[in-house]
Amino acid sequence: MDKQPVAIITGASGGLGSATARALSEKGYRLILMSRSGCVEIARETGGVGIAGSVLSDSDMDKAVQTALDHYGRIDAAIFGAGRHSEVMKGYDVPAAPPATGDSFSYDPHYGRDVFDIPWDAWHADYDMMVLAPMRMIKAVLPQMKAQKNGAIVAISGIEAAQPRLPFPLGPTRLALQGFVKMLADRHGRDGIRINTISPGLMESAASEFHPQWTDQVPMGRVGKCREVGDTIAFLVSQSAGYITGQCMTVDGGVNRPLGL
Ligand SMILES: NC(=O)c1ccc[n+]([C@@H]2O[C@H](COP(=O)([O-])OP(=O)(O)OC[C@H]3O[C@@H](n4cnc5c(N)ncnc54)[C@H](OP(=O)(O)O)[C@@H]3O)[C@@H](O)[C@H]2O)c1
Repeated sequence: MDKQPVAIITGASGGLGSATARALSEKGYRLILMSRSGCVEIARETGGVGIAGSVLSDSDMDKAVQTALDHYGRIDAAIFGAGRHSEVMKGYDVPAAPPATGDSFSYDPHYGRDVFDIPWDAWHADYDMMVLAPMRMIKAVLPQMKAQKNGAIVAISGIEAAQPRLPFPLGPTRLALQGFVKMLADRHGRDGIRINTISPGLMESAASEFHPQWTDQVPMGRVGKCREVGDTIAFLVSQSAGYITGQCMTVDGGVNRPLGL
């Protein structure tokens, strides 16, 4: 591999995307950073190339790939970190969730929006963002990675992939992404391409979206730092993770710990 590998990060202006950009930049990656607003600040900070574009657009995603190839001639890693359920739902007539009254994170039948309060259009929009958009990014980078016979892809998912919970009613879309990632990992393992997802738990950047008491149920007793997700992604795309593919890695302070998976 080139001494200075190249990574595309979508959603790189956001909490987890920018933390990933910092982690990869410190490891010597040259970065292509994409979001609708163009990632100006994080591009300046990391010396990356910022691009304004939407992960919902084939041509914008192809433009990000082409920019990487024009600048650096290769793509070693691609990270999907765009969007958020709460942001997607803002575009629709979704009733506000009732305020969390206590430690309802594990199970509380009364907390969270009823799933059928969410209009079908919002379900489709969430599927577009959380499932089809990462698939679009993967489709866009695969030809170059196949030609190189090398590449690592990580899509940021969420802990709902490990355990759907009532406070996150659209969360089960994560399971669809995980299914597609496992299939693609099977298909492209022999091409030298590894594809994984990462599931952050209760993170500092979304602390306003959950009750502070929920952290009592985190074995580590605190919210996660964005950088802890960025560093895990940096590991997953590195050669140190060279035999890891098709996995969903949780970074949640120990909330989900299924045995036997
Ligand atoms: N933070 C958490 O606690 C947490 C926990 C579990 C899972 N996650 C998941 O992790 C992912 C990232 O979360 P985050 O906390 O980093 O979110 P965030 O801070 O809201 O950042 C989201 C990023 O996505 C970009 N974006 C939104 N729509 C886009 C589009 N159509 N095309 C391109 N870029 C777009 C935003 O930039 P622009 O506005 O400039 O486009 C921004 O850079 C999400 O899937 C989220 O659900 C987060």
